[in-house]
Amino acid sequence: MTDKLLEGKVVIVTGAGSGMGKEISKLFSSHGAQVVVADINKQAAELTASELESEDFRVIQVDVSDNDSVEMMVKETFQHYNKIDVLINCAGVPQYFTPIEELSLEKWDRIFAVNTKSIFLTSKHVVPIMKERKNGAIINIASIAGVRARPGLNAYCASKGAAIMLTKALALELAPFKIRVNAINPGPAETPMLSQFISGDRNKVEAETKNIFIDSVPLGTLIQPSDIAHAALYLSSDFAKVVTGEIMNVDGGRGV
Ligand SMILES: NC(=O)c1ccc[n+]([C@@H]2O[C@H](COP(=O)([O-])OP(=O)(O)OC[C@H]3O[C@@H](n4cnc5c(N)ncnc54)[C@H](O)[C@@H]3O)[C@@H](O)[C@H]2O)c1
Repeated sequence: MTDKLLEGKVVIVTGAGSGMGKEISKLFSSHGAQVVVADINKQAAELTASELESEDFRVIQVDVSDNDSVEMMVKETFQHYNKIDVLINCAGVPQYFTPIEELSLEKWDRIFAVNTKSIFLTSKHVVPIMKERKNGAIINIASIAGVRARPGLNAYCASKGAAIMLTKALALELAPFKIRVNAINPGPAETPMLSQFISGDRNKVEAETKNIFIDSVPLGTLIQPSDIAHAALYLSSDFAKVVTGEIMNVDGGRGV
C-alpha cells in the first residue's frame, strides 16, 4: 500500500461545507481521492473545495432530504467519474434542547429528513452503481447520542439511533455485493453545530456551553473534526476491507 490510502477513489462527502465533512474532504483529497464536495450551502462547499490538496474535485449543491436533489448529485458524479467508491453521509442538523410537548411536528420531520431519510436516499441512488462493480464503502456519521440519550434531544437521539440501525441492516443486505457499510458515532465535537444544541445559535460558542459537553467526556476533551476524518479514512481504506456493520465510537469515552 502507498502512503496515499485513497488514490483514484471517487468519494461523495455530504455536509462537506463545514465541520467534520469539511475535514473529511480535505484529508481524503490529501490521500489522493477525487472528492465530490456536496452541501446545501454552495458557498460553504466552494470554500471547502478551495482548500483541497488535489484539483480533481466537484462541488455539488444538494439537499440530502430531497430525492430529486440526491438523484441529481449521484447522476452528475457518475457522469463525470463513471464510478463511486465511497459515500460519506455527514450532513446533519442538530436539535436545540426541547421538551417533547413543545417540539413542533415540522422540527421533528426536518431532523429525521436530514439525519435519517438522507441515508436512505443517498444509498438508494449510489448502491446500484456500487453493485455493478461489486465494490464500495458507505460511512454514516451518526452520533453517540444515538446510543446514549440526553434530556431534551428527543428527535435528534431518535434520528441517530435509526441511522445506526439502518447502517447495520444495510451492512448485512449489501455484504454479498462487497459493499461495506459502517457508522461513526462522534462524541461532542468542536464544530459550529455544538453551540446550536444549547444556545440554538451557530455562531455563539460560549465557554459555558463547551464545559457542559467537555464534562460529559471521560477523556475530558471535545472531539476534533480531524479525529472523525481519520476514523472515516480508516473505514474507507483497504485496511478495513473486512470491517462492516461496525459502529465506531469516536467519543473520548462518552459512550462507555
Ligand atoms: N458536532 C457535534 O457535536 C456532533 C456530535 C455527534 C454527531 N454529529 C454529527 O456529525 C455530522 C457533522 O456535523 P458537524 O458537527 O460537522 O456539523 P456542521 O453544522 O459543522 O456541518 C453540517 C453541514 O451539513 C450541511 N447540511 C445541513 N443540512 C443539509 C442538507 N439538507 N443537505 C445537505 N447538506 C446539509 C450544513 O450546511 C453544514 O455544512 C452531523 O451528522 C452531526 O449530526 C455532530
